[in-house]
Amino acid sequence: MILGCLLADASAKAEDGYDLWLRYAPLEGEALDRIAGLHGPGAVISSDGPAEASATMEAARRELGVGLARLSRNSTSRLRSGAKGYVKLDCPESRGDGDVGYSVRADGADIRIRGSSDLACLYGVFALLRELSLEVDPVRIDIASEPAMPLRMLNHWDNPDGHVERGYAGRSIFDWWHLPERLDQRMIDYARANASLGINGVVVNNVNARAFMLEPRYIAKYKRLADAWRPYGIRLYVSVRFSAPKDIGGLDSADPLDPEVRAWWQAKADEFYAAVPDFGGFLVKANSEGQPGPQDYGRSHSDGANMLAEAIGNRGTVIWRAFVYSAEDETDRAKQAYGEFVPLDGQFADNVIVQVKNGPIDFQPREPFHPMFGAMPNTKLMFEAQITKEYLGFASHSAFLAPMWEEVLDHGTGRGGTVAEMVLPAGMAGVANTGSDRNWSGSHFDQANWYAFGRLAWDPELPSEQIAREWTVQTFTREPEAIEKIVRMMMRSREAVVGYMTPLGLAHLMDTGHHYGPAPWVCDLPRPEWNPCYYHRADAEGIGFDRTASGSDALSQYADRIANRWDDPDTIDPRFLLWFHHVPWTAERPSGLSLWEELLNEYDRGVSEVDAMAREWTDLFDAIDPQRHRAVTESLAIQQREARWWRDASIAYWQSLNGLPLPENVRPPAESLDAYIGRTFPEAPGQ
Ligand code: GCU
Repeated sequence: MILGCLLADASAKAEDGYDLWLRYAPLEGEALDRIAGLHGPGAVISSDGPAEASATMEAARRELGVGLARLSRNSTSRLRSGAKGYVKLDCPESRGDGDVGYSVRADGADIRIRGSSDLACLYGVFALLRELSLEVDPVRIDIASEPAMPLRMLNHWDNPDGHVERGYAGRSIFDWWHLPERLDQRMIDYARANASLGINGVVVNNVNARAFMLEPRYIAKYKRLADAWRPYGIRLYVSVRFSAPKDIGGLDSADPLDPEVRAWWQAKADEFYAAVPDFGGFLVKANSEGQPGPQDYGRSHSDGANMLAEAIGNRGTVIWRAFVYSAEDETDRAKQAYGEFVPLDGQFADNVIVQVKNGPIDFQPREPFHPMFGAMPNTKLMFEAQITKEYLGFASHSAFLAPMWEEVLDHGTGRGGTVAEMVLPAGMAGVANTGSDRNWSGSHFDQANWYAFGRLAWDPELPSEQIAREWTVQTFTREPEAIEKIVRMMMRSREAVVGYMTPLGLAHLMDTGHHYGPAPWVCDLPRPEWNPCYYHRADAEGIGFDRTASGSDALSQYADRIANRWDDPDTIDPRFLLWFHHVPWTAERPSGLSLWEELLNEYDRGVSEVDAMAREWTDLFDAIDPQRHRAVTESLAIQQREARWWRDASIAYWQSLNGLPLPENVRPPAESLDAYIGRTFPEAPGQ
């Protein structure tokens, strides 16, 4: 009997992370007393009238019921007897798509959620539950909120066979094999999690798309998913392969100006809309990394995008990616997207959005903002972030990405606003980090990146520290000291990764293919820009990529105000130094140290930050449930070991080039350079 109690208690405490930030952990003490007497939903006024609630309103009521019950320790019957107030859902008239702003306000003993669409009420319910989870006194709740941008999307790089490109959380969450008949409960929980953040679009398949995913049998699967997600305000989008008319349509061309090709896409779009009336549209990766595109026929990106846009018409959107670089142009990969797209400004149809990665290369631990932001005033540009951490240690290293996105979103473009302001008319897309792992994201802390992406897409002005704090409280603990520790860990985590992987503006030093671990020595791959040596340009004299006028001149793609500031190695933000400048190892820096010494300091800072994170986490033993505490402890141990690997291998390699000694207080690399070069990782996931 006693053993039974113990087991029950242990399993009640064990958490596997499946509930994400929607745990609604029971409140205690005063916070619990304050919500006693609140129950809901009370009166429900929806766009469909009080009698017949829509599926969205049903979802709102259900979430509210579950959330309040859990927050109040499941004591609804006790609450009902002493009931004082109701949560009232007051969303009477739908003004149509997009009008999802809501207010949540105390109204006497009640709380009233108001909006002008059912989805506004659902979003309001999630906001209320978040506030209550954060122990805000219900009588003080007073929020009015609306999304800053229309599209807040996840892009899944999930393949039909279940493998996720750059996925580190198991297999794909989409069970194409059993759809449309079988719909996993995960698909509903996934929609709830997204709706709780205001995410309203999901591209379900990899940008490296397979044409057969446009066949009717797949459209039936999309329909099932779209029907399941509609109540949660999520529109479904599909990545398309530009050559599909040839691949599956029996045509001998995919030329966007060929009438037969245009007719094929028109019919295909109609087929989609017949099955899924609110289908979101197509995402396209064209003429990039071997994908087919309009340039195969001598046509431009706008020719290709506009053809698809015409097929879709005013029913949806074509999202055309700007991630392009060609093997022929050897001068500077960082310049190529700007070069191909900026001359096309103003030539894209109204329902085309060009999706631009945060930086000009590829989701590095740190990049300057992409120079296309601000440079195409007559084109809708969308911000693409990578939630999955392809270049930041996969799910085994902890790196909270909100500060990285904030750094870019808040940056002035010098062309009339910040990066965030440039994307307000379009939106943000995040490459998802979800998978079949029980905790969805491969690690508990990686859930925070999904959360942060959604929160920033709703409101890019939210400070990342606030996001970290609210996520921590909802996900881990309400214990004030523990919250502070966890937030501190999160806020330093990405900077730690930059320190031990790519300090001072270095980039793309990861090993070939899988992008895990250091390999700055790689220099023999057939395409120049596949090689880390292309990016660091280190030799006996110095290190860094000269992107000033004396080098590739990529700097000139930025507004003068920015370019002038970054042109001088002594005045540039040191975090971007080696991105834009080739600097002698022995150059004296404004800090009084040599570049070599500064670099060594950064490596050591990165390693000691990870050690500090691990120590803080150990101290949290009593504040976190054992299962999740252990899982994070194990990840941090990996990160501690691998931070040293990064530091040591990098230093060993730089030393082999510059022949410089290490200052006395700097620990020599643990192994020889050859030992680091000899390591291979055929088992690395996600490639
Ligand atoms: C990176 C990534 C690829 C991906 C590509 C893209 O290069 O390594 O796996 O396909 O980005 O964004 O299209």
